[in-house]
Amino acid sequence: MSIAVVLGSGLGGFADTPEEGRATPYSEIPGWPASKVIGHAGKLIEGRVGGQDVIVLAGRSHLYEGYTAQQVTFGIRELAKRGVKQVILTNAAGGINTSYHAGELVLISDHINLQNTNPLVGGGNFIDMSEAYSLRLRDIARAVAAGMGLVLKEGVYAGLLGPSFETPAEIRYLRAIGADLVGMSTVMETIAANHLGMEVLGISCVTNMAAGVLPQKLTHAEVLETGERVKGTLTTLLGNIVRALS
Ligand code: HPA
Repeated sequence: MSIAVVLGSGLGGFADTPEEGRATPYSEIPGWPASKVIGHAGKLIEGRVGGQDVIVLAGRSHLYEGYTAQQVTFGIRELAKRGVKQVILTNAAGGINTSYHAGELVLISDHINLQNTNPLVGGGNFIDMSEAYSLRLRDIARAVAAGMGLVLKEGVYAGLLGPSFETPAEIRYLRAIGADLVGMSTVMETIAANHLGMEVLGISCVTNMAAGVLPQKLTHAEVLETGERVKGTLTTLLGNIVRALS
């Protein structure tokens, strides 16, 4: 049974971790929607980490690229076909909670779907989402991180369509409705993974404070730069979590 790891924007470091890793470009997997955004390598890597079978999805497609909810969850269904029961979803996110700082890793405790779509549209799949992000996996992740001297806070992830960043007013709104993190991915995948009976662990890298929190503008370059800076810690953390789960 494999554990899967989905790597977000600029967070591709873990792709090199699996031993005897075999990489398949998404373009060679029938039906896979290709990503066009810089920082997304776009390949599926199968290998082993500490004796545990692992599948890494390096790069994902997003709704803001014009893909449908069905298309952005293609990879999750592919993982289910390959027997994956646990998936770790990583992403770059803006920090809404002012106790966060850029470069911090935060466990996703829950999400708010503001993407106006759902990968289960078309069927009567009234699935329960009351523990969409596994408590068990969060407990394991926190313990593993503590062993590295790392404290992982938790937060609610608001998923927006993008691709423009939010306005300061939108960030104040998101804070008021209970969001700590904001991003443009993960939510569709979490819904699809829950539907397929997978346990989900979500880890956000706070690549920047959200719009209006600091007196500075947001850039995709900053998102990628912070991702690059945190990649090493995230890569080690992911490896240790996978080993703890095996
Ligand atoms: N907003 C939305 N998505 C993001 C952000 C942000 O500030 N940072 C990284 N992804």
